[in-house]
Amino acid sequence: MLTASLRDRGALTVARTLQQDALQQFCSRPAAQQTAEDGLALQQAAAAAVRFPADGRYLGSWRRGERIAQDGRGLQYSDPANVPAGGNCYACHQLKPQEPAYGNLGPSLLGFGTRHGADAVTLKATWTQLYNPHAVHLCALMPRFGQQGILTEQQLRDVMALLFDPDSPVNQPSQANE
Ligand code: HEC
Repeated sequence: MLTASLRDRGALTVARTLQQDALQQFCSRPAAQQTAEDGLALQQAAAAAVRFPADGRYLGSWRRGERIAQDGRGLQYSDPANVPAGGNCYACHQLKPQEPAYGNLGPSLLGFGTRHGADAVTLKATWTQLYNPHAVHLCALMPRFGQQGILTEQQLRDVMALLFDPDSPVNQPSQANE
């Protein structure tokens, strides 16, 4: 009934709305029907498919990253084609302390770079989280920004800078302590 009553419209396709991939099928099952072997295989496949920046640059502009984090546009029927999608990070996370409107489905990312540092291992792990959160937590509730092509490589770099750049409002100690 659902399939028959829906049709593709713009970027919103019936296939994307109703057809689950293997990972979504697994995570939609009751726990009793999820085997550890299947889960491990899916998580390893997700991790193996993460594409890291070819030039090794993980950080772009935090200013652009902030705009992407605020932007909830993308992949809906009313979104014009060829307009880059946003990351909508504030829908689920606290980031800069000055922003009063944010969701709390995800953990607060206030002071993220200050708390974690920006060594190569941390940058790679965070890139993985943004590219495909299922590679980190199998049934994660966060969108797969890289794997699903929601954000481009440069957009991912910019959002990374929002998290890690010492000049980013996310990492200002005076404000983070408020
Ligand atoms: C639909 C809600 C949602 C959106 C949108 C979302 N996230 Fe998340 N995020 C989560 C949840 C839930 C977690 C907790 C772990 C998990 O489920 O992956 C998380 C975890 C994280 C983590 C790991 C935090 C830690 O302490 O390890 C980072 C970093 C992160 N998100 C960054 C972002 C950024 C940047 C964006 C925007 C590009 C974003 N998230 C968009 C829900 C979301």
